[in-house]
Amino acid sequence: MRHDRCQELTPKFNALFPGGHSNFRVPFEATQNRIFIVRAEGSRLWDADGNEYIDYMNAMGPMILGHRHPEYVRALKGYLDTMSTSIGSGVFFTPADIELGEKMVTHIPCAEKIKFCLSGTEVVQMAIRLARGYTNRPYFIRFDGHYHGWLDNVLGGVSNPDPQGRPFGIDNPDIDLVTFTRGRAVHALEESFLLPWNSEERLVATLEKYGDEVALIHFEGIVCNHFGIMPRPGFIEKIRELCTTYGIVMSMDEVITGFRLGLGGAQKYLGVTPDIATFGKALAGGIPFAALTGRGEILQLFEDRTVLGPGTFNGHPLGVRAALTTLSILERDNGGCYDAMWRVQNRLMNGLREIAKRRRIPVLVHGVPGVFHTVFGVTKDVIYSEADMEEFDLNLLYSFWPKMQEEGIIVMAGGRWYMSMAHTDADVDKTLEVADKTMAQM
Ligand SMILES: Cc1ncc(COP(=O)(O)O)c(C=O)c1O
Repeated sequence: MRHDRCQELTPKFNALFPGGHSNFRVPFEATQNRIFIVRAEGSRLWDADGNEYIDYMNAMGPMILGHRHPEYVRALKGYLDTMSTSIGSGVFFTPADIELGEKMVTHIPCAEKIKFCLSGTEVVQMAIRLARGYTNRPYFIRFDGHYHGWLDNVLGGVSNPDPQGRPFGIDNPDIDLVTFTRGRAVHALEESFLLPWNSEERLVATLEKYGDEVALIHFEGIVCNHFGIMPRPGFIEKIRELCTTYGIVMSMDEVITGFRLGLGGAQKYLGVTPDIATFGKALAGGIPFAALTGRGEILQLFEDRTVLGPGTFNGHPLGVRAALTTLSILERDNGGCYDAMWRVQNRLMNGLREIAKRRRIPVLVHGVPGVFHTVFGVTKDVIYSEADMEEFDLNLLYSFWPKMQEEGIIVMAGGRWYMSMAHTDADVDKTLEVADKTMAQM
Protein backbone atom coordinates (compact mmCIF):
# COMPACT_ATOMS: atom_id res chain seq x y z
CA MET A 1 0.00 0.00 0.00
CA ARG A 2 1.05 3.56 -0.62
CA HIS A 3 0.45 6.26 1.99
CA ASP A 4 2.18 9.35 0.55
CA ARG A 5 -0.91 11.48 0.06
CA CYS A 6 -2.55 10.49 3.37
CA GLN A 7 0.73 11.15 5.16
CA GLU A 8 0.83 14.59 3.57
CA LEU A 9 -2.74 15.36 4.63
CA THR A 10 -2.50 14.02 8.21
CA PRO A 11 -0.54 16.91 9.81
CA LYS A 12 -2.68 19.48 8.00
CA PHE A 13 -5.82 17.79 9.31
CA ASN A 14 -4.45 17.40 12.84
CA ALA A 15 -3.47 21.08 12.92
CA LEU A 16 -7.09 22.03 12.32
CA PHE A 17 -9.07 19.31 14.10
CA PRO A 18 -7.74 18.34 17.54
CA GLY A 19 -8.65 14.71 18.13
CA GLY A 20 -10.45 14.46 14.78
CA HIS A 21 -14.22 14.88 14.54
CA SER A 22 -15.38 12.14 16.88
CA ASN A 23 -12.47 11.90 19.31
CA PHE A 24 -13.50 8.74 21.04
CA ARG A 25 -11.38 5.62 21.45
CA VAL A 26 -9.12 6.54 18.52
CA PRO A 27 -5.71 4.96 19.17
CA PHE A 28 -2.83 7.45 19.01
CA GLU A 29 -1.21 5.43 16.24
CA ALA A 30 -4.28 6.00 14.04
CA THR A 31 -4.26 9.75 14.66
CA GLN A 32 -0.75 9.87 13.20
CA ASN A 33 -1.70 7.79 10.15
CA ARG A 34 -5.09 9.10 9.15
CA ILE A 35 -6.94 7.70 6.18
CA PHE A 36 -8.66 10.14 3.82
CA ILE A 37 -11.46 8.54 1.82
CA VAL A 38 -12.23 9.79 -1.67
CA ARG A 39 -14.54 7.14 -3.10
CA ALA A 40 -17.04 4.55 -1.89
CA GLU A 41 -19.04 1.81 -3.57
CA GLY A 42 -20.90 -1.15 -2.07
CA SER A 43 -18.62 -2.85 0.47
CA ARG A 44 -15.55 -0.93 -0.69
CA LEU A 45 -13.75 2.33 0.14
CA TRP A 46 -10.80 3.96 -1.62
CA ASP A 47 -8.37 6.36 0.03
CA ALA A 48 -6.53 9.38 -1.35
CA ASP A 49 -3.56 7.15 -2.28
CA GLY A 50 -5.79 4.87 -4.35
CA ASN A 51 -5.74 1.98 -1.83
CA GLU A 52 -8.87 -0.15 -1.83
CA TYR A 53 -10.47 -1.43 1.38
CA ILE A 54 -13.25 -3.86 2.26
CA ASP A 55 -15.20 -1.92 4.85
CA TYR A 56 -16.49 -3.65 8.00
CA MET A 57 -16.72 -0.39 9.94
CA ASN A 58 -19.56 0.92 7.81
CA ALA A 59 -19.43 4.38 9.37
CA MET A 60 -19.87 2.80 12.83
CA GLY A 61 -23.16 1.23 11.88
CA PRO A 62 -25.38 3.33 9.63
CA MET A 63 -24.40 1.83 6.26
CA ILE A 64 -26.67 -1.21 6.39
CA LEU A 65 -27.17 -1.01 2.61
CA GLY A 66 -23.46 -0.54 1.96
CA HIS A 67 -22.08 2.55 0.27
CA ARG A 68 -23.97 4.27 -2.53
CA HIS A 69 -26.72 1.71 -2.94
CA PRO A 70 -28.01 2.65 -6.43
CA GLU A 71 -31.65 2.97 -5.40
CA TYR A 72 -30.77 5.01 -2.31
CA VAL A 73 -28.60 7.38 -4.33
CA ARG A 74 -31.32 7.72 -6.99
CA ALA A 75 -33.96 8.52 -4.37
CA LEU A 76 -31.85 11.22 -2.73
CA LYS A 77 -30.85 12.76 -6.08
CA GLY A 78 -34.48 12.75 -7.20
CA TYR A 79 -35.51 14.36 -3.94
CA LEU A 80 -32.97 17.17 -4.35
CA ASP A 81 -34.27 17.90 -7.85
CA THR A 82 -37.52 19.22 -6.44
CA MET A 83 -37.30 19.69 -2.69
CA SER A 84 -35.38 21.83 -0.25
CA THR A 85 -32.78 20.33 2.06
CA SER A 86 -34.76 21.70 4.99
CA ILE A 87 -38.22 23.14 5.47
CA GLY A 88 -38.66 23.83 9.19
CA SER A 89 -39.59 20.96 11.46
CA GLY A 90 -42.11 22.76 13.66
CA VAL A 91 -44.35 24.08 10.88
CA PHE A 92 -43.95 22.12 7.65
CA PHE A 93 -43.94 18.40 7.04
CA THR A 94 -43.78 16.03 4.08
CA PRO A 95 -46.22 13.28 3.08
CA ALA A 96 -43.25 10.91 3.33
CA ASP A 97 -43.19 11.48 7.13
CA ILE A 98 -46.44 9.52 7.37
CA GLU A 99 -45.28 6.75 5.05
CA LEU A 100 -42.10 6.31 7.11
CA GLY A 101 -43.96 6.45 10.42
CA GLU A 102 -46.40 3.78 9.24
CA LYS A 103 -43.55 1.50 8.22
CA MET A 104 -41.91 1.91 11.64
CA VAL A 105 -45.15 1.14 13.44
CA THR A 106 -45.56 -1.97 11.29
CA HIS A 107 -42.08 -3.33 11.97
CA ILE A 108 -41.13 -2.28 15.51
CA PRO A 109 -43.04 -4.17 18.20
CA CYS A 110 -43.21 -1.30 20.74
CA ALA A 111 -43.93 1.46 18.20
CA GLU A 112 -47.33 3.10 18.37
CA LYS A 113 -46.17 6.71 18.09
CA ILE A 114 -42.94 8.31 16.95
CA LYS A 115 -40.78 11.39 17.38
CA PHE A 116 -38.02 12.15 14.87
CA CYS A 117 -34.66 13.59 15.96
CA LEU A 118 -31.19 13.80 14.48
CA SER A 119 -28.68 11.66 16.37
CA GLY A 120 -28.55 8.78 18.80
CA THR A 121 -27.19 11.02 21.54
CA GLU A 122 -30.13 13.38 21.18
CA VAL A 123 -32.82 10.76 21.02
CA VAL A 124 -31.54 9.11 24.21
CA GLN A 125 -31.86 12.44 26.04
CA MET A 126 -35.36 12.75 24.63
CA ALA A 127 -36.18 9.31 26.06
CA ILE A 128 -34.87 10.28 29.49
CA ARG A 129 -36.84 13.51 29.55
CA LEU A 130 -40.01 11.84 28.33
CA ALA A 131 -39.81 9.08 30.94
CA ARG A 132 -39.16 11.58 33.70
CA GLY A 133 -42.11 13.64 32.51
CA TYR A 134 -44.32 10.56 32.35
CA THR A 135 -43.42 9.14 35.76
CA ASN A 136 -42.58 12.38 37.55
CA ARG A 137 -39.51 10.66 39.01
CA PRO A 138 -35.88 11.86 39.00
CA TYR A 139 -33.54 8.92 38.43
CA PHE A 140 -32.75 6.42 35.73
CA ILE A 141 -30.86 3.13 35.66
CA ARG A 142 -28.14 2.30 33.14
CA PHE A 143 -25.49 -0.39 32.96
CA ASP A 144 -21.70 -0.75 32.84
CA GLY A 145 -20.30 -0.93 29.31
CA HIS A 146 -23.50 0.21 27.56
CA TYR A 147 -23.04 3.37 25.50
CA HIS A 148 -25.79 5.94 25.02
CA GLY A 149 -24.05 8.97 23.51
CA TRP A 150 -21.53 11.53 24.60
CA LEU A 151 -23.55 13.72 26.98
CA ASP A 152 -22.61 14.17 30.62
CA ASN A 153 -25.33 12.09 32.23
CA VAL A 154 -24.79 8.89 30.21
CA LEU A 155 -21.09 8.81 29.32
CA GLY A 156 -19.14 6.34 31.46
CA GLY A 157 -18.48 7.23 35.06
CA VAL A 158 -17.96 4.94 38.00
CA SER A 159 -20.95 3.98 40.07
CA ASN A 160 -21.48 4.06 43.78
CA PRO A 161 -19.26 1.39 45.32
CA ASP A 162 -21.96 0.89 47.95
CA PRO A 163 -24.58 -1.36 46.31
CA GLN A 164 -27.22 0.05 48.63
CA GLY A 165 -26.22 3.65 47.98
CA ARG A 166 -27.93 6.46 46.12
CA PRO A 167 -26.72 7.51 42.66
CA PHE A 168 -23.21 8.63 43.25
CA GLY A 169 -21.09 8.79 40.14
CA ILE A 170 -17.48 9.76 39.96
CA ASP A 171 -15.04 10.41 37.17
CA ASN A 172 -12.06 8.19 37.77
CA PRO A 173 -9.55 7.86 34.96
CA ASP A 174 -7.83 4.92 36.66
CA ILE A 175 -10.93 2.75 36.53
CA ASP A 176 -12.85 4.24 33.64
CA LEU A 177 -10.12 4.37 31.00
CA VAL A 178 -12.33 4.40 27.95
CA THR A 179 -15.04 6.92 28.72
CA PHE A 180 -13.41 9.19 31.29
CA THR A 181 -13.76 12.86 30.46
CA ARG A 182 -12.93 16.07 32.19
CA GLY A 183 -15.37 18.93 31.90
CA ARG A 184 -18.48 17.08 33.03
CA ALA A 185 -21.26 18.94 34.86
CA VAL A 186 -20.77 18.31 38.56
CA HIS A 187 -23.98 16.43 39.34
CA ALA A 188 -24.47 14.68 35.99
CA LEU A 189 -23.43 11.25 37.22
CA GLU A 190 -25.80 11.49 40.17
CA GLU A 191 -28.80 11.27 37.87
CA SER A 192 -28.51 7.55 37.34
CA PHE A 193 -27.76 4.28 39.09
CA LEU A 194 -24.98 2.62 37.11
CA LEU A 195 -25.29 -1.14 37.62
CA PRO A 196 -23.45 -4.22 36.41
CA TRP A 197 -25.21 -5.77 33.38
CA ASN A 198 -26.88 -9.14 33.81
CA SER A 199 -26.94 -8.87 37.61
CA GLU A 200 -30.53 -9.54 38.60
CA GLU A 201 -29.50 -9.35 42.22
CA ARG A 202 -28.16 -5.79 41.99
CA LEU A 203 -31.10 -4.61 39.92
CA VAL A 204 -33.64 -6.06 42.32
CA ALA A 205 -31.79 -4.64 45.35
CA THR A 206 -31.67 -1.16 43.84
CA LEU A 207 -35.34 -1.21 42.96
CA GLU A 208 -36.37 -2.54 46.36
CA LYS A 209 -34.84 0.56 47.83
CA TYR A 210 -35.40 3.20 45.15
CA GLY A 211 -37.96 1.73 42.74
CA ASP A 212 -40.42 4.55 43.33
CA GLU A 213 -37.84 7.14 42.35
CA VAL A 214 -36.72 5.54 39.08
CA ALA A 215 -38.23 6.94 35.86
CA LEU A 216 -36.63 4.61 33.32
CA ILE A 217 -34.27 1.72 32.79
CA HIS A 218 -32.30 2.37 29.61
CA PHE A 219 -30.09 -0.35 28.09
CA GLU A 220 -28.73 -1.99 24.95
CA GLY A 221 -30.55 -5.32 24.48
CA ILE A 222 -27.35 -6.76 23.05
CA VAL A 223 -24.36 -4.82 24.29
CA CYS A 224 -22.80 -4.15 20.90
CA ASN A 225 -20.71 -1.35 22.43
CA HIS A 226 -19.06 -3.79 24.81
CA PHE A 227 -17.92 -6.89 22.92
CA GLY A 228 -21.47 -7.92 22.07
CA ILE A 229 -22.21 -9.18 25.57
CA MET A 230 -25.49 -11.10 25.46
CA PRO A 231 -28.26 -10.83 28.02
CA ARG A 232 -28.29 -13.80 30.38
CA PRO A 233 -31.34 -15.97 29.63
CA GLY A 234 -34.26 -14.37 31.45
CA PHE A 235 -32.56 -11.06 32.27
CA ILE A 236 -34.41 -8.90 29.74
CA GLU A 237 -37.66 -10.59 30.78
CA LYS A 238 -36.78 -9.68 34.39
CA ILE A 239 -36.26 -6.03 33.44
CA ARG A 240 -39.68 -6.12 31.75
CA GLU A 241 -41.30 -7.60 34.84
CA LEU A 242 -39.65 -5.15 37.24
CA CYS A 243 -40.52 -2.13 35.06
CA THR A 244 -44.16 -3.20 35.06
CA THR A 245 -44.16 -3.82 38.81
CA TYR A 246 -42.58 -0.49 39.70
CA GLY A 247 -44.23 1.63 37.00
CA ILE A 248 -40.85 2.33 35.39
CA VAL A 249 -40.49 3.08 31.67
CA MET A 250 -38.52 0.28 29.99
CA SER A 251 -36.36 1.87 27.29
CA MET A 252 -34.35 -0.24 24.85
CA ASP A 253 -31.49 1.52 23.07
CA GLU A 254 -31.75 0.29 19.48
CA VAL A 255 -29.42 2.90 18.00
CA ILE A 256 -27.15 0.09 16.78
CA THR A 257 -29.55 -2.84 16.63
CA GLY A 258 -32.50 -1.04 15.01
CA PHE A 259 -32.93 -2.17 11.37
CA ARG A 260 -29.57 -3.95 11.65
CA LEU A 261 -30.58 -7.15 13.42
CA GLY A 262 -33.72 -7.24 11.32
CA LEU A 263 -36.80 -5.15 10.71
CA GLY A 264 -37.97 -5.46 14.32
CA GLY A 265 -34.59 -4.74 15.94
CA ALA A 266 -33.31 -6.32 19.16
CA GLN A 267 -36.76 -6.26 20.77
CA LYS A 268 -38.14 -8.60 18.12
CA TYR A 269 -34.97 -10.70 18.20
CA LEU A 270 -35.11 -11.05 21.98
CA GLY A 271 -38.86 -11.36 22.09
CA VAL A 272 -39.40 -8.72 24.78
CA THR A 273 -41.26 -5.49 24.08
CA PRO A 274 -40.05 -2.35 25.88
CA ASP A 275 -42.25 0.70 26.53
CA ILE A 276 -40.09 2.97 24.39
CA ALA A 277 -37.03 2.54 22.17
CA THR A 278 -34.41 4.78 20.59
CA PHE A 279 -33.32 4.38 16.96
CA GLY A 280 -30.57 6.03 14.87
CA LYS A 281 -27.67 4.86 12.70
CA ALA A 282 -29.05 2.27 10.21
CA LEU A 283 -32.54 3.78 10.25
CA ALA A 284 -31.64 6.26 7.49
CA GLY A 285 -28.79 4.31 5.88
CA GLY A 286 -26.16 7.04 6.41
CA ILE A 287 -27.93 10.41 6.68
CA PRO A 288 -28.11 11.75 10.27
CA PHE A 289 -31.55 10.80 11.51
CA ALA A 290 -32.98 9.26 14.68
CA ALA A 291 -36.31 8.35 16.20
CA LEU A 292 -37.92 7.73 19.56
CA THR A 293 -40.81 5.27 19.38
CA GLY A 294 -43.04 3.61 21.90
CA ARG A 295 -46.36 3.37 23.59
CA GLY A 296 -48.85 6.01 22.52
CA GLU A 297 -49.83 6.83 26.07
CA ILE A 298 -46.24 7.84 26.88
CA LEU A 299 -45.38 9.70 23.66
CA GLN A 300 -48.71 11.50 23.97
CA LEU A 301 -46.95 13.85 26.40
CA PHE A 302 -45.35 15.55 23.38
CA GLU A 303 -48.82 16.22 22.00
CA ASP A 304 -50.03 17.61 25.33
CA ARG A 305 -46.91 19.79 25.36
CA THR A 306 -46.22 18.62 28.89
CA VAL A 307 -42.87 17.44 27.56
CA LEU A 308 -40.96 19.47 25.00
CA GLY A 309 -38.66 18.12 22.33
CA PRO A 310 -37.93 20.92 19.87
CA GLY A 311 -35.18 21.00 17.25
CA THR A 312 -34.58 22.95 14.03
CA PHE A 313 -33.65 19.80 12.17
CA ASN A 314 -36.04 17.30 13.81
CA GLY A 315 -37.79 15.33 11.11
CA HIS A 316 -35.27 16.60 8.58
CA PRO A 317 -36.96 15.89 5.21
CA LEU A 318 -33.81 14.58 3.53
CA GLY A 319 -33.41 12.19 6.48
CA VAL A 320 -37.04 11.15 6.15
CA ARG A 321 -36.52 10.40 2.46
CA ALA A 322 -33.32 8.48 3.26
CA ALA A 323 -35.03 6.45 5.99
CA LEU A 324 -38.09 5.74 3.87
CA THR A 325 -35.89 4.53 1.02
CA THR A 326 -33.75 2.43 3.36
CA LEU A 327 -36.74 0.71 4.94
CA SER A 328 -38.42 0.20 1.53
CA ILE A 329 -35.33 -1.69 0.37
CA LEU A 330 -34.89 -3.66 3.61
CA GLU A 331 -38.49 -4.85 3.88
CA ARG A 332 -38.64 -6.47 0.42
CA ASP A 333 -39.31 -10.23 0.36
CA ASN A 334 -40.32 -9.98 3.98
CA GLY A 335 -36.82 -8.87 4.98
CA GLY A 336 -35.10 -11.57 2.89
CA CYS A 337 -31.98 -9.43 2.52
CA TYR A 338 -31.27 -10.01 6.23
CA ASP A 339 -31.13 -13.76 5.62
CA ALA A 340 -28.71 -13.19 2.76
CA MET A 341 -26.51 -10.92 4.92
CA TRP A 342 -26.57 -13.44 7.78
CA ARG A 343 -25.45 -16.23 5.42
CA VAL A 344 -22.43 -14.18 4.29
CA GLN A 345 -21.70 -13.10 7.88
CA ASN A 346 -21.82 -16.69 9.11
CA ARG A 347 -19.35 -17.78 6.46
CA LEU A 348 -17.04 -15.00 7.62
CA MET A 349 -17.43 -15.79 11.33
CA ASN A 350 -16.93 -19.53 10.78
CA GLY A 351 -13.92 -18.85 8.56
CA LEU A 352 -12.31 -16.65 11.22
CA ARG A 353 -12.93 -19.31 13.87
CA GLU A 354 -11.36 -21.99 11.68
CA ILE A 355 -8.26 -19.89 10.96
CA ALA A 356 -7.84 -18.92 14.62
CA LYS A 357 -8.09 -22.56 15.67
CA ARG A 358 -5.56 -23.65 13.07
CA ARG A 359 -3.18 -20.82 14.01
CA ARG A 360 -3.76 -21.41 17.74
CA ILE A 361 -4.98 -17.89 18.40
CA PRO A 362 -7.50 -17.72 21.26
CA VAL A 363 -10.45 -15.67 20.10
CA LEU A 364 -14.18 -15.69 20.64
CA VAL A 365 -15.98 -14.83 17.39
CA HIS A 366 -19.58 -14.12 18.26
CA GLY A 367 -22.43 -11.87 17.28
CA VAL A 368 -25.95 -11.36 16.06
CA PRO A 369 -27.17 -10.67 12.52
CA GLY A 370 -25.50 -7.54 11.20
CA VAL A 371 -22.76 -7.11 13.80
CA PHE A 372 -20.19 -9.36 15.45
CA HIS A 373 -17.05 -9.19 17.58
CA THR A 374 -13.64 -10.82 17.59
CA VAL A 375 -12.80 -10.94 21.30
CA PHE A 376 -9.13 -11.88 21.45
CA GLY A 377 -7.83 -13.97 24.33
CA VAL A 378 -11.27 -15.18 25.39
CA THR A 379 -11.84 -18.93 25.18
CA LYS A 380 -15.42 -19.02 26.49
CA ASP A 381 -18.32 -19.70 24.11
CA VAL A 382 -20.46 -16.86 25.42
CA ILE A 383 -19.80 -13.81 27.57
CA TYR A 384 -22.27 -12.32 30.03
CA SER A 385 -20.13 -10.22 32.36
CA GLU A 386 -16.80 -8.55 33.01
CA ALA A 387 -15.71 -11.72 34.83
CA ASP A 388 -16.22 -13.69 31.59
CA MET A 389 -13.91 -11.20 29.88
CA GLU A 390 -10.98 -11.77 32.21
CA GLU A 391 -8.84 -13.40 29.53
CA PHE A 392 -9.36 -10.53 27.06
CA ASP A 393 -6.01 -9.73 25.46
CA LEU A 394 -5.63 -6.18 24.20
CA ASN A 395 -2.18 -6.88 22.78
CA LEU A 396 -3.52 -9.66 20.59
CA LEU A 397 -6.28 -7.37 19.35
CA TYR A 398 -3.78 -4.63 18.58
CA SER A 399 -1.61 -7.07 16.67
CA PHE A 400 -4.64 -7.95 14.53
CA TRP A 401 -6.67 -4.97 13.35
CA PRO A 402 -3.88 -2.57 12.24
CA LYS A 403 -2.35 -5.39 10.17
CA MET A 404 -5.73 -6.20 8.63
CA GLN A 405 -6.13 -2.53 7.74
CA GLU A 406 -2.70 -2.41 6.15
CA GLU A 407 -3.86 -5.31 3.96
CA GLY A 408 -7.06 -3.53 2.99
CA ILE A 409 -9.58 -4.84 5.52
CA ILE A 410 -11.19 -2.23 7.78
CA VAL A 411 -12.37 -3.55 11.15
CA MET A 412 -13.29 -1.31 14.09
CA ALA A 413 -10.44 -0.80 16.55
CA GLY A 414 -12.24 -2.67 19.34
CA GLY A 415 -12.67 -5.78 17.16
CA ARG A 416 -16.24 -4.99 16.08
CA TRP A 417 -17.40 -5.87 12.56
CA TYR A 418 -20.43 -4.23 10.98
CA MET A 419 -21.92 -6.11 8.04
CA SER A 420 -23.88 -4.57 5.20
CA MET A 421 -26.16 -5.93 2.50
CA ALA A 422 -23.32 -5.19 0.05
CA HIS A 423 -20.83 -7.72 1.45
CA THR A 424 -20.35 -10.66 -0.90
CA ASP A 425 -18.80 -14.11 -0.80
CA ALA A 426 -15.85 -12.66 -2.71
CA ASP A 427 -15.37 -10.12 0.12
CA VAL A 428 -15.40 -12.96 2.63
CA ASP A 429 -12.83 -14.95 0.59
CA LYS A 430 -10.49 -11.98 0.44
CA THR A 431 -11.02 -11.14 4.14
CA LEU A 432 -10.25 -14.70 5.23
CA GLU A 433 -7.14 -14.78 3.06
CA VAL A 434 -5.88 -11.63 4.81
CA ALA A 435 -6.94 -12.89 8.25
CA ASP A 436 -4.97 -16.10 7.67
CA LYS A 437 -1.87 -14.13 6.68
CA THR A 438 -2.33 -11.80 9.68
CA MET A 439 -2.90 -14.52 12.25
CA ALA A 440 0.12 -16.40 10.93
CA GLN A 441 2.22 -13.42 12.01
CA MET A 442 0.58 -12.94 15.41
C1 LIG B 1 -26.41 2.20 21.57
C2 LIG B 1 -26.07 3.62 21.22
N1 LIG B 1 -26.84 4.62 21.68
C3 LIG B 1 -26.57 5.90 21.38
C4 LIG B 1 -25.50 6.25 20.61
C5 LIG B 1 -25.22 7.68 20.28
O1 LIG B 1 -25.51 7.89 18.94
P1 LIG B 1 -24.79 9.07 18.10
O2 LIG B 1 -23.35 8.74 18.01
O3 LIG B 1 -25.52 9.05 16.79
O4 LIG B 1 -25.04 10.33 18.83
C6 LIG B 1 -24.66 5.26 20.10
C7 LIG B 1 -23.50 5.58 19.26
O5 LIG B 1 -22.64 4.79 18.98
C8 LIG B 1 -24.96 3.90 20.42
O6 LIG B 1 -24.18 2.90 19.99
